Amino acid sequence: MKLPAFRTVFEPFRIHSVEPIKMTTPADRKARLATASYNLFQLRSEDVLIDLLTDSGTGAMSRDQWAAIQRGDESYAGSPSYFVFRDAVRDLFDFEHVIPVHQGRAAERILFSVLGGPGKVVPNNTHFDTTRANVEATGAAAVDLVIAEGRDPASLHPFKGNMDLAALEALLTERGADVPCVFVTITNNSGGGQPVSLENLRGVRELCDRHGKLLFLDACRFAENAWFIREREGGQGERDVVDIVRDIAGLADGMTMSAKKDPMGNIGGWLALDDPDLAQECRNMLVLTEGFPTYGGLAGRDLEAVAQGLSEAVEHDYLRYRIVSTAYLGEALQKIGMPVISPIGGHAVYVDARALLPNIDPLHYPGQALAVALYELGGVRSCEIGTVMFGRRPDGGEVPAAMDLVRLAIPRRTYTQSHFDYVIEVCERLVERAHLLPGYRITQEPKALRHFTAQFEPITR
Ligand code: F0G
Repeated sequence: MKLPAFRTVFEPFRIHSVEPIKMTTPADRKARLATASYNLFQLRSEDVLIDLLTDSGTGAMSRDQWAAIQRGDESYAGSPSYFVFRDAVRDLFDFEHVIPVHQGRAAERILFSVLGGPGKVVPNNTHFDTTRANVEATGAAAVDLVIAEGRDPASLHPFKGNMDLAALEALLTERGADVPCVFVTITNNSGGGQPVSLENLRGVRELCDRHGKLLFLDACRFAENAWFIREREGGQGERDVVDIVRDIAGLADGMTMSAKKDPMGNIGGWLALDDPDLAQECRNMLVLTEGFPTYGGLAGRDLEAVAQGLSEAVEHDYLRYRIVSTAYLGEALQKIGMPVISPIGGHAVYVDARALLPNIDPLHYPGQALAVALYELGGVRSCEIGTVMFGRRPDGGEVPAAMDLVRLAIPRRTYTQSHFDYVIEVCERLVERAHLLPGYRITQEPKALRHFTAQFEPITR
């Protein structure tokens, strides 16, 4: 007898511990917004109903991660928890030197403080905000070289995170002496959570070999990227995700990592690499601000939680549920007329706010306008990834970002389908009143990473 194939992909876990959500009304939220100067980072999270601000550090840990926390050994030097962590990292990413840090940006700061500096250029498919800020903080330039399809919200290219190999070759030919390393971000967060293919990574590797350059991965969402390779790249469909991850790692010389994403940590990260001299310089920097090289800014218990999370991140059933549930939200939004980036990415759904709000000039921040409206209407917190985040240039000028997106990021194993159904309903109401939304102006902003603390006011017509 042929067994029936069921359509529903349910959460491959039962809920073991719950956190209450405090209900609020639109009037409550209107008041909270004014107090927060219309910056959603300035809200108290208890005033949020569904928090899709980020998938970073917000996932639910598993029973086995909580159990691993009990094994955490807090010795200052040589803790067994370090070796558990190091071996779990090396099992997937076989780099000689594994340097723990408190989160991804610490790895970036350490690496770029060694490799960066005035006159240097770092190419990446697309720098994430902290990566760009850490490159630029050393006086170096951060250049984004994603393929043209990666900047086109409507393109259905299966690997929109791919590096533009011709552009990379041109940069390496013209300014090779100024390029300390090449970076590839998997998946490409700022470009819509889009994956990079193995074939493209091989192409980048070949260029790096030809020009004698180090290749680093910014690998926060490596497992989701590997899943997309399995689904979309010729000849990969029958392979184990773990083997695909090892292939990815085998093409690189090192990686920076935030363990707050795919590795299911609430905190943590690492810098891993093969070059012994570079590793030594990085460890010297680590000791200055993070800690001794066997804990690097983390507690032993955090190292244990990440080690266990890494093995869960590459489980087939988990990844299938993860990618299908993100697509569930994205496809429903498409159906109700929200312009979203396709194909739907791994960790988030990205709404094209510029397309939804053509009446708002990019320099009046359509992404901010949409994110504020989603919160006021439904208590849903999202994140602008557009002109607020990227519009300010190092020379002080302001230009529209390549895209004005709003990211609905999905914390891992945290929300269920009915939470998504509510978000879909809120979006449906919002589409109806999109033409009424005001733009915003910034009344105060810091020098770098302005989106975290800038203050806004609505532009009333
Ligand atoms: N690289 C990428 C691609 C990221 O998405 C992030 C963080 C980092 C580096 C920095 O890692 O936060 O541990 O210091 N992204 C989060 C987000 C903050 O919301 O996408 P971190």
